[in-house]
Amino acid sequence: MSDPSRAYKWILLISSLVTLGFLLAAAARENVTAEWRHVQKDYQRILLAKAGDATSRRVAGQFPVEIRQVTVPALNTVDRCVSCHLGIDDPRMKDQPEPHRAHPKELLKIHRTEKFGCTVCHQGQGAALTFHEAKAEDYFWDYPLLPASLTEASCNSCHDPRALPRGAAAKLVRGMELFDEKGCWACHKLDGKGGQLGPALDNVGLKTKHQFIRANLKGSQTVWHWLSQHFRDPMGIVPGSRMPAPALTPVENEALTVYMLSLRKRSLPEEYLAPDKIEQKYARLHPPAPNGEALYKQYCASCHDTGLYTRWDKNFQRFVPAIRNPSFVRTEDDECLLANVEEGRPGTFMPAWGPKAGGLSKPEMEALVAYLRGAVKPAELAAAPAGGSVERGRTLFGRNCAGCHGAQGQGLIAPALANPVFQKAATDAFIAETIRSGRENTPMPAFARAGFGQAEIADLIAHIRKGFTK
Ligand code: HEC
Ligand code: HEC
Ligand code: HEC
Ligand code: HEC
Ligand code: HEC
Ligand code: HEC
Repeated sequence: MSDPSRAYKWILLISSLVTLGFLLAAAARENVTAEWRHVQKDYQRILLAKAGDATSRRVAGQFPVEIRQVTVPALNTVDRCVSCHLGIDDPRMKDQPEPHRAHPKELLKIHRTEKFGCTVCHQGQGAALTFHEAKAEDYFWDYPLLPASLTEASCNSCHDPRALPRGAAAKLVRGMELFDEKGCWACHKLDGKGGQLGPALDNVGLKTKHQFIRANLKGSQTVWHWLSQHFRDPMGIVPGSRMPAPALTPVENEALTVYMLSLRKRSLPEEYLAPDKIEQKYARLHPPAPNGEALYKQYCASCHDTGLYTRWDKNFQRFVPAIRNPSFVRTEDDECLLANVEEGRPGTFMPAWGPKAGGLSKPEMEALVAYLRGAVKPAELAAAPAGGSVERGRTLFGRNCAGCHGAQGQGLIAPALANPVFQKAATDAFIAETIRSGRENTPMPAFARAGFGQAEIADLIAHIRKGFTK
């Protein structure tokens, strides 16, 4: 007869041995084969090879193999990057391969490791002890390690990049310039100023990959890859996007990506902000005198281009009016122009630019109007003929105007005439003159040439004012 307790004892013994085996393997991984240990032993070999005299040989020989970390309570970080990047502030290591290499550009002399740590500039998972986990790209971690080529994105949190010594953050500064040059402000707000067709970008650098539509994103699923692919082809990444692809060289694409990543609204303790950042905040309270031409390039040119001809926008499937065309500005006084700029054309692609919308101040909008006008003075317009018939106007409009302006004046390929701001800002005399003379160098025909006299114009005005149904 077998003793059942014997069998149990065997089972117990074997399972204990298996558990012990696992524990030993884990201990070995932690204590003998861990990645950081290999790195540190490697580093010790480099130290020994470099040691010139007996003292430094002794010091290198006693190099402790242990986890190293930098705790920065003010930033809420514990960075163990220095467990592997041991030579990071040792100039003798400048020619060693990664991770032993000394830090480039002497950045750590200014930003001491004890005060700053590493992740404040690099992102990544500070507490990790393998490079894969520190990088944290395919990991549940909001801010994976930035590629070294994009790390200048961090400077903007604590500095006014334009005030840094030349070349210290060249890529970031180039990205900021491109944002102006490419007219991104036409559709995006920063600090409360800009168009509203696209989202405000103040905090786009703190968005995580989960906050982007990535169904069409091929390759690396990181925010920076998304941004650079989206610049190449906005519609390919976000179907139906109204964002035009900015023509960028690969170098410019990277610079603009760095700038986007740098847009982070985070509250850092005062002592981490460089003096130039604090000056930048005060400088914003005293903006320079507005320059109409510069404002135009920044806020209007993306849609209106030079404003001297009507632009066909294939994204909008609509003409964008020639707002610096002499035959337009001569027909409007400054007040009407200002009303259009301040209130925009609600429901169309033309945004409102007043303080509550696009964030432009009155002096800025006045400078813009002066720029639109150039040297062209408002003409004395003949009074509009009155007493037209809405009925006859409807027929005329349907035959001659609806194909471009929409049967209900809702705007089709040409501007919306039922628009409340148009209805308010445009005088009858302005409408009459526009119908009679059209606008030179635009698709808007001069109907006087088609034989329209006072009677037809009166009928059309009656219809434009009262005939549209919602
Ligand atoms: C376990 C060791 C280890 C840890 C921990 C570690 N690294 Fe590294 N790091 C490496 C190695 C090895 C390389 C070189 C890898 C390569 O070239 O593929 C490297 C490369 C880098 C690079 C260059 C990558 C590039 O884009 O060229 C940066 C930047 C970097 N590490 C920063 C960090 C930061 C910041 C941390 C802490 C969050 C960190 N590392 C933690 C081992 C480590
Ligand atoms: C003040 C911001 C800042 C801090 C703090 C900082 N770095 Fe960097 N680091 C950078 C920038 C910017 C670069 C890219 C420089 C370049 O090549 O233009 C960089 C590059 C690197 C590289 C890659 C070098 C290369 O080009 O291959 C490594 C590795 C690295 N840093 C590690 C660290 C570690 C580890 C720490 C913490 C001890 C740290 N850094 C702290 C800004 C910083
Ligand atoms: C977390 C905040 C922080 C970040 C991020 C940061 N810096 Fe700094 N930096 C400072 C502070 C604070 C000082 C002032 C140090 C002092 O004067 O003691 C400074 C000083 C400097 C200086 C020397 C002073 C000067 O203006 O000439 C340079 C250069 C510099 N930083 C470059 C950079 C670059 C380049 C980056 C991005 C890679 C960067 N910093 C990122 C906080 C930061
Ligand atoms: C004509 C309007 C227009 C212009 C000009 C424009 N954008 Fe956009 N942008 C949009 C719209 C609309 C979206 C939202 C749809 C999308 O993601 O593509 C968008 C989305 C974005 C996003 C993604 C933001 C997020 O939070 O998802 C970024 C980043 C961006 N634009 C940057 C830029 C930059 C940089 C420029 C200048 C080179 C620019 N845009 C020019 C209309 C525009
Ligand atoms: C071939 C297309 C086309 C036709 C047909 C046409 N228009 Fe226009 N119209 C335009 C375009 C395009 C503009 C904007 C021109 C510019 O400044 O670039 C415009 C501008 C106007 C404006 C000024 C709108 C504003 O926002 O200031 C009025 C008023 C107007 N048209 C009335 C009419 C009337 C009335 C008719 C018919 C009798 C008509 N148009 C026929 C294309 C057309
Ligand atoms: C996102 C594209 C876009 C931007 C940015 C934009 N506009 Fe427009 N604007 C339009 C469109 C489209 C129209 C015609 C409205 C319609 O379709 O009904 C228009 C109409 C106008 C008109 C009326 C023109 C007329 O014929 O009566 C003025 C004036 C004007 N814009 C000025 C400006 C100024 C000044 C800026 C810069 C501060 C600006 N726009 C920025 C798209 C834009």
